[in-house]
Amino acid sequence: MRLLRVGKGKPMSAATIAYVAFALVLTQSSDASGSKDALTFWSGLGLLLFFISGALVIWFSKQEYEQKIAAQEHLIATLQEANNGVQQELTKWQECYRTVITAMDEVTRKKVVAHINRSLPMPNPPPGIPLLIQEADAVEAPPDQTAWIAAIGWITQPAHQRVTSFWLSVHPRSEAFTGHIAVAGETRSGKGALIFTILAQLALRTRPEQLKLFAIDPKEDFALWEGKAHNWREPVLGRDPDMVRGAMQAISSERARRVAIRRRAQVLEWADIPAALRPPILVVYLAELDLMPVDDKELDAWLTEEMSTSLSEGIVFLLDIQNATRLSTRWRTHFGTNICGVQGRQAAVEPNLGISVSEVRAAGAIPPNELQRGQFTVRSGRDIESFSAPLITIEHRREMLAHLPRATDPLTILPPRPEDAEPASSESREEGHAISPEEEGRILRAADELEEQLGPQAKRTDVALRVYGRATGEEYQKVKYVLDTHRRILPGRRPATAIPTPHASSA
Ligand SMILES: Nc1ncnc2c1ncn2[C@@H]1O[C@H](COP(=O)(O)OP(=O)(O)OP(=O)(O)O)[C@@H](O)[C@H]1O
Ligand SMILES: [Mg+2]
Repeated sequence: MRLLRVGKGKPMSAATIAYVAFALVLTQSSDASGSKDALTFWSGLGLLLFFISGALVIWFSKQEYEQKIAAQEHLIATLQEANNGVQQELTKWQECYRTVITAMDEVTRKKVVAHINRSLPMPNPPPGIPLLIQEADAVEAPPDQTAWIAAIGWITQPAHQRVTSFWLSVHPRSEAFTGHIAVAGETRSGKGALIFTILAQLALRTRPEQLKLFAIDPKEDFALWEGKAHNWREPVLGRDPDMVRGAMQAISSERARRVAIRRRAQVLEWADIPAALRPPILVVYLAELDLMPVDDKELDAWLTEEMSTSLSEGIVFLLDIQNATRLSTRWRTHFGTNICGVQGRQAAVEPNLGISVSEVRAAGAIPPNELQRGQFTVRSGRDIESFSAPLITIEHRREMLAHLPRATDPLTILPPRPEDAEPASSESREEGHAISPEEEGRILRAADELEEQLGPQAKRTDVALRVYGRATGEEYQKVKYVLDTHRRILPGRRPATAIPTPHASSA
C-alpha cells in the first residue's frame, strides 16, 4: 500500500512513455517491411523495455520510501532526546524544591505544604441539590447521624486531581457538628441559595419528628416552606414587630420546655436524653438579621441568652446577614461555623469569618474579599475551606420542596395501624372544624404542660380533658387536628417498621 502510494505517479507515466515509444517503432517498421518476423521482434523488444522501465520505477519508489522512513525515525529519536532533557530538568527542579522545603522553618513549611495541597472552589459546579445529596449519602458516619449531614458545596483538589464536596452536620454528636451557623456575604452573593441548600437537604434527609425548622424571615423568601410538616411553627414572614417578638418569645419558651425535659432525664446534653423523650433537633433560621424589626439592644440580649444556652437543648441557630461587622461580639463569638461569601473589603473578613485574612491564606483557603458570587469560605471548628455553592433556581426550590411532607397530610408520613384509626377523623377534617388561634394556643399549651409532667405517657385524650373537660366527639377531633398539624403527642404505639426510612432510631 505504502509503496503504491509513494510511487503512484511514476509507474503510470513510465509505462505510458514505454508504450508510446513501442507503438511508434512498430508502426514505422510494419510500414517499411510489413513482415511478420519484424513485428514479433519489435513487440518482444517493446515488452522487454516495458518491464525494464517498470522495474526501474519500483526501485526508485522503494528508495524514496526508505528515505522517508529514515527521516521519521530520526525525528522520533530527536523528540525522545528532547523529552529526556525535560525529564532531567524536572527531576533537577524537584530536587531543588525538596531541598528548599526541607531547609524551611516549620511554620513556613506548613504554609507551603498547605498551599501545594490547597483545595479551591470548583469552577462551574453542577447546579441543584440532588448531586450534593449523593455526596452526603456517601459520607461515612454512624447510622444514627447520617440524616443530619448536608453537603453544601463543591471543591477541587488540584494536587490530588479530584473533585469533592464540603459537608457539615447539625447533629451534636457528629465530629463535624456545626454549632450555631452564620452565613454572611454582600447582597447578591448567594446567601439565600446556600441557606436553601442547607435547610432543604436536612429536611429531605430527616423525618419531621426528627427535625423541626422555624424561620423568622423579613424578606419572606421562606414563604415557599409554608405548610410543610418540618415547620416547628409556620414561618414568621414580614416585619411586624409584634409577630417577631412573639416568635422570639416562643423560641425562648421552647428552650425552657426542653431544659425541663432534659432535667427530668437527668442528663447534661440533648443527645443523652433517652430517644423516647428526646425532642427533635430544632433549627431556627433568622433571615437578614439587619432587617429584624426589633431594636438592636433587645435583639442582642435575646440572642446572647438563646445562643449561649440552646445547643445543649438541641436548638441550632442559623443566621443570615450581609456584614456582621457592627454586630455585638457578645453573641457573635457563639458561632461554631462561619460561612462567608463575597465581601468587598478585607476589613470585613475577620468579623464575618472569625479568623484573619492571613489565617485564611495559611489554611490554603481564599479570603472572602477575593471570592466570586456563589463561592464561600467556611470556618467550622478547625476546618477552613473555600467552596462553590450550586446555583439554586426557583424551579430547583419548588422541585425539592415538593418532596417534603405537608403538615396537613400526616397519614403519608406516619401511616397509622388499623387500631389507631379514628373513625370520625377524616370526615371531621373534610367538614372542617372552626378552631380559633386562641383555641389552638390553649391546646398547644396544654400539650406542653402534659408533656412536661408526663413525658411520653402524655396522651391526646389528656389534652382534650384539660382543655375541654371531655375527650370525645368534636372536642377530641379538634385536639387531634391541632396536634396532628403541629406533629405533637403522636400516638406512640406504632412499630418502628411502619416508618419508611433507615434513620428510625435517631431522634
Ligand atoms: N451558587 C451560585 N452560583 C451562581 N449564581 C448564584 C449562586 N447562588 C445565587 N446566585 C445568583 O445570585 C443572585 C443572588 O442570589 P441570592 O438571592 O441567593 O443572594 P443573597 O446573598 O441572598 O442576596 P440578598 O442579600 O439580596 O438577599 C441570584 O440571581 C442567583 O441566581
Ligand atoms: Mg438573601
